[in-house]
Amino acid sequence: MKLLPLLAANAIAMMVCTLLLWLFGEVPTALAAHLTLALGIMPLILAAMAYFVPVLTRSDGAPRAIESMAALAWLGGAAMVASMLGGIARNPVAGIALTIVGALLAAKAAATLLVWTLLRSRRSLGAAHPGLAWYVAALGFLLLALACVPLLLLWPERFAALRLVHLHANLLGFVGLTAIGTLQVLLPTAAGRWDKQAASRLAQDLKFALAGAALLALGAGFSGFLAAAGAALFCVPLARMGRVWLFDYADQIGRVHGASAALGAACVGLIGLLIAGVGHGLARLPASGALAGFVLAFLAPLVSGAAMQLLPVWLRPGRQDAWHERLRTALGRCSGVHASLLVAGGLIVACGYAQGLWLAAAGLALLLAVATRALLGAR
Ligand code: HEM
Repeated sequence: MKLLPLLAANAIAMMVCTLLLWLFGEVPTALAAHLTLALGIMPLILAAMAYFVPVLTRSDGAPRAIESMAALAWLGGAAMVASMLGGIARNPVAGIALTIVGALLAAKAAATLLVWTLLRSRRSLGAAHPGLAWYVAALGFLLLALACVPLLLLWPERFAALRLVHLHANLLGFVGLTAIGTLQVLLPTAAGRWDKQAASRLAQDLKFALAGAALLALGAGFSGFLAAAGAALFCVPLARMGRVWLFDYADQIGRVHGASAALGAACVGLIGLLIAGVGHGLARLPASGALAGFVLAFLAPLVSGAAMQLLPVWLRPGRQDAWHERLRTALGRCSGVHASLLVAGGLIVACGYAQGLWLAAAGLALLLAVATRALLGAR
């Protein structure tokens, strides 16, 4: 089976496992985080980048060696998850060794993809699309986050601060920048209506997103003031994208069916999470639900919305015909309903009310039922 659809299914499966653990088990937050993020989302993002970079540079598809970097990152995530499992976690030497191996494998994958992306951008046919610079910056944040891992282990007195740098660099820098850079092109494609300003907005807004994520990551660890300034800057590209979506794409986003509804919901979820994040930073809201909120209100509608649009092409690349359109329509059925349940549930959890998990579980169950029916029908 092809790697991208497999990794998309893997990411959704990891989210379902994590949600079940949150609902029915006692699970350390770090284990839940890495199950969804390091084992699910990180490899999917790297595979998606290997797919999109040739599109953005109008060049040949990625070679096998580059595509396989996503699998290497998956191994890194697996090593990290393994380091936290029962028996191994009780053996500190094995736990630390596996954590370091995990960070090294993920860093090797990210660095290889970064160098290849830079080389491709130089050899681009004409100027590379501005979305490419967002991927370069996102990979830089992943490398920064991974560089924190040995420091976390070597510098125990700074563990809490470095953990916050690692998690914000990952969530806002790596995942956030990739998502915003991709969404600006993906939503208009899903809506079937060209956004003429998307490329220039991407070129102008990268500095805000980059500075915002960097200040947020460093500020979360070392200075609340820097973190608040970072959150404000990070909102600039989101607000500018949101304004265009509100005026030009509201009819598509407000639909009951289709990828645009899920992608729009993910954007609403991210803005809601940033507001909740300021509440956490000011100690007005408990931070305990922040991670679950990020996974449910942002990542779940984002990954499912992207998969609705892209899965047909990933499964059968080449000429697009009625089969692709039929599968896209079937995958997008009721997306507005399950994405709204996920965003509402995730934001309730992010505000400190665990009952929101049940709302999100209903959304995820509906999403799985729709996807299973669509994929069985497509065979
Ligand atoms: C495979 C490479 C990775 C390694 C080796 C690694 C390592 C670590 C370590 C050692 C911690 C501190 C754990 C603790 O509090 O006991 C941590 C925390 C965290 N990491 Fe990673 N990480 C990796 C990848 C990622 C990725 C890709 C993401 C997100 C996209 C991520 C998100 C987080 C989060 C959210 C936390 C905080 C969890 C909590 O609240 O306890 N990590 N990571």
